[in-house]
Amino acid sequence: MSSDYIIKVEKVSKTFPGVKALNEVDFELKAGEVLALCGENGAGKSTLMKTIAGVHDPDPGSGCIQFLGKEACFENPLEARKAGIVLVFQELSLVPELSVAENIFLGSLPRTKFKTIDWKSMNEETAELLEELECNFKPTDLAGDLSIAQQQMVEIARSLPFKPKVVILDEPTSSLTEREKEVLFKNIRRLKEKDVAIVYITHKMDEVFEITDRITVLRDGQRTGSLKTSDATINDITKLMIGRELEDFFHKSKAEPGKEILRVENLTQKGEFQKISFSIRSGEVLGVYGLVGAGRSEMAESIFGVRKLDEGKIFIEEKEVEIKNSKQAVKLGIGFVPENRKEQGLVLKMSCQSNLSLAKLPWMHQKGFIDRTTDINTFNEYKEKLLISTPGPNQPVVNLSGGNQQKIVIGKWMCMDPKVLILDEPTRGIDVGAKAEIHKLIAKMAEAGLAVLVISSEMPEIIGVSNRIITMKDGCITAEFQESEISEQGLIDAITLDPKAESA
Ligand SMILES: Nc1ncnc2c1ncn2[C@@H]1O[C@H](COP(=O)(O)OP(=O)(O)OP(=O)(O)O)[C@@H](O)[C@H]1O
Ligand SMILES: [Mg+2]
Repeated sequence: MSSDYIIKVEKVSKTFPGVKALNEVDFELKAGEVLALCGENGAGKSTLMKTIAGVHDPDPGSGCIQFLGKEACFENPLEARKAGIVLVFQELSLVPELSVAENIFLGSLPRTKFKTIDWKSMNEETAELLEELECNFKPTDLAGDLSIAQQQMVEIARSLPFKPKVVILDEPTSSLTEREKEVLFKNIRRLKEKDVAIVYITHKMDEVFEITDRITVLRDGQRTGSLKTSDATINDITKLMIGRELEDFFHKSKAEPGKEILRVENLTQKGEFQKISFSIRSGEVLGVYGLVGAGRSEMAESIFGVRKLDEGKIFIEEKEVEIKNSKQAVKLGIGFVPENRKEQGLVLKMSCQSNLSLAKLPWMHQKGFIDRTTDINTFNEYKEKLLISTPGPNQPVVNLSGGNQQKIVIGKWMCMDPKVLILDEPTRGIDVGAKAEIHKLIAKMAEAGLAVLVISSEMPEIIGVSNRIITMKDGCITAEFQESEISEQGLIDAITLDPKAESA
């Protein structure tokens, strides 16, 4: 019977200190199918996949995992990989100091007959893999110099030489451009034709319907249902995920815009973005819409002082300011929720509580001490506001689910009480329920007087939260939409405009 299934999991549990991440979960996967694995942040999706792929051991005596009809228990992911199960992690795990080729062959570097590393064949084989995935970078490039999207492609390329039977992709497109996503989907279809089974973890419903055949939903470490994708609706999935229907997906600031808080004029960094001018008033949410690679994040980083400007002026409350680094930006009241939480937003080994207070520290130090009671109060307040699911304030952030880590980054800046808050892809990797909560918070913060800049590649999100939208392409602003003028088609047209033709 079980031979129908390439993987069959029965009643497996996994307990971490203080959390039952998996609670007698069942799960099946058939050869040649693309299975969506859905569920709220912290539902246990990554844990289930890591348990299958040898990263975690299930709780002793708690059920069984079968692979190809036989009980499977892999010591580590490499063993699983050799057997044919490849897991591409949610959080990227490349070594930034090594080249793309070295990262791909890490652990099995090819040797020449003199036992030295065979750079030539390593680079040649890597070039072939990169070509297969239509990557636009070289085997010799350093992993640390690649964009997140490119690093993600390296993670995927790295799995191909193992001729896998099962490929597990944990939120693979969270930072890919539209074109890169298409390439990935092409590769998924190609693998599927070879009868490879694919588990596709995502919070993006449009992708579930585009690429998957079946959907399995987890909630609180248990399976709540499995559906055929062609029979399912978003509502069906949401209900299985959160146990109720979502009435309201988006929330917009209803505040009357007040005085100007942030103005930028002619921001330019050569090769990245040019002549960016806009202003945001108190109570306003300005959306920046564009495709990945349009220069939006780079522009935002320059306002936060982590990127040098070649030209341009920044004004806070109509006073020109100089921002040479992020410390100065924070002092001026600018908060920044970056796109890549792992590198820029969190100290992973520190506790949730400490991470939340990080942005506040400069002020606490001014008073001369760190106040731990405020810390814990702050933590409790934001845990509740953002529905952060963690066993306790002292839990290291690294142990939180991806979405909950993102909530901590947002909370960290919210509790600093900034004048301007810049959010770069704020709900990347966040489940539908928590997404709605974050949108509500963005609106609330604006209504409390903040000027908010939201960068997003998700059209429904940008339309849902913004009072005004500017679009960017190739580093230039291509259009601006007042609230009453915003339309999907208008935005699509604006991000495909040629900025040079426009300004000519
Ligand atoms: N190494 C760990 N140590 C302690 N707790 C952990 C660890 N890994 C996961 N957890 C906890 O187990 C639960 C399930 O987490 P998991 O990462 O599997 O969620 P997820 O469904 O993948 O969520 P997301 O959509 O946010 O990625 C969470 O409560 C998380 O905090
Ligand atoms: Mg996860």
